[in-house]
Amino acid sequence: MRDTTTATGGIPAQPGPSKAESTPDDGEHLPGAGAQESDPSGVIAGAGPVARPGERATVRLRDGGEEEPSRYAPEWLQLREGADAAARAQDLLDPLRIRLADLPGRAGGIAVHDLGCGTGSMGRWLAPRLDGAQHWILHDRDPYLLHFAAVASARSAGDGSRVTVETRRGDVARLTPDALSGASLVTASALLDVLTREEIEALADACTGAGCPALLTLSVAGRVELTPAHPLDAEVAEAFNAHQRRTGLLGPDAVTVACEAFSERGATVRVHPSPWRLGPAESALTEQWLRGWVGAAVEQRPGLRDRAERYLDERLAACAAGELRVVVHHSDLLALPRPTGTAS
Ligand SMILES: C[S@@+](CC[C@H](N)C(=O)[O-])C[C@H]1O[C@@H](n2cnc3c(N)ncnc32)[C@H](O)[C@@H]1O
Repeated sequence: MRDTTTATGGIPAQPGPSKAESTPDDGEHLPGAGAQESDPSGVIAGAGPVARPGERATVRLRDGGEEEPSRYAPEWLQLREGADAAARAQDLLDPLRIRLADLPGRAGGIAVHDLGCGTGSMGRWLAPRLDGAQHWILHDRDPYLLHFAAVASARSAGDGSRVTVETRRGDVARLTPDALSGASLVTASALLDVLTREEIEALADACTGAGCPALLTLSVAGRVELTPAHPLDAEVAEAFNAHQRRTGLLGPDAVTVACEAFSERGATVRVHPSPWRLGPAESALTEQWLRGWVGAAVEQRPGLRDRAERYLDERLAACAAGELRVVVHHSDLLALPRPTGTAS
């Protein structure tokens, strides 16, 4: 069963279900706060916020078992939403709009699939930047985040047309061209770097097989710039990048692999930088990012621990004093496959 809604709501400050006019398409009840516990072991790539280095940003269901993937904290996704919105590459929107304008049947509205939607920040950013009626299909494996995404979704397109949403719980790495039948656009934000090469190739297969454009934003590029500089910056960055690549995830290699995968399948690919530029006004985000960045580095290279703790203390003090600036480089990618039915 799918759930279509135009309900509105916010992302709660604390985990747990909120009252809403809709529930995700999960076939299960959402976990209550009492059914969750912090998991202090490990850090997941790209998850960001941790209370202390090495702590996880996520919650895990008590009965989840070893096989259950780590979960992203909605508070972290909310904290980064403003910086994400400021960072995404506007320059990719015109080529996308031109492609969407040429779609047969466009007058009836477009169908947008948001993969790994989290709490739905991509829809809140993109839906008002496109004109015409839109139906968003929000995909995530986490029913808890899908719930927030549905209740806090965008309601209006740029020209005031109606925006509706539905949620689909599942593994986006298993998406097929059939699942994208009728899709006008696939989007994702902060997703590619937590996928494997095989998963990105499957995504490229699905999009190109369906002739569907893909706007894949905010993949980490593996480069950060901290001002003022510190002698340990490069070592922490190297350890963090190695942490991201563990267990076959692509981390900073994701955009290169995605470019190759889409190009080999006949798509035209554009890449544009989309860095976070964090200054004193973004100190809350910078603090959490620093804790997660250094925590992952220490988890990857335990020998760094003592020096990294001193480093983190210094960096947090500078951040609190408004004396630290950080540029976290990301890339956005627009892939325009050949429309299906077009001769090669
Ligand atoms: C870093 S968060 C980004 C969330 C959101 N796009 C944003 O920008 O705020 C990654 C999201 O992808 C989801 N995710 C990761 N791998 C997935 C998979 N294989 N299938 C479905 N969802 C996945 C996670 O549950 C999480 O919500």
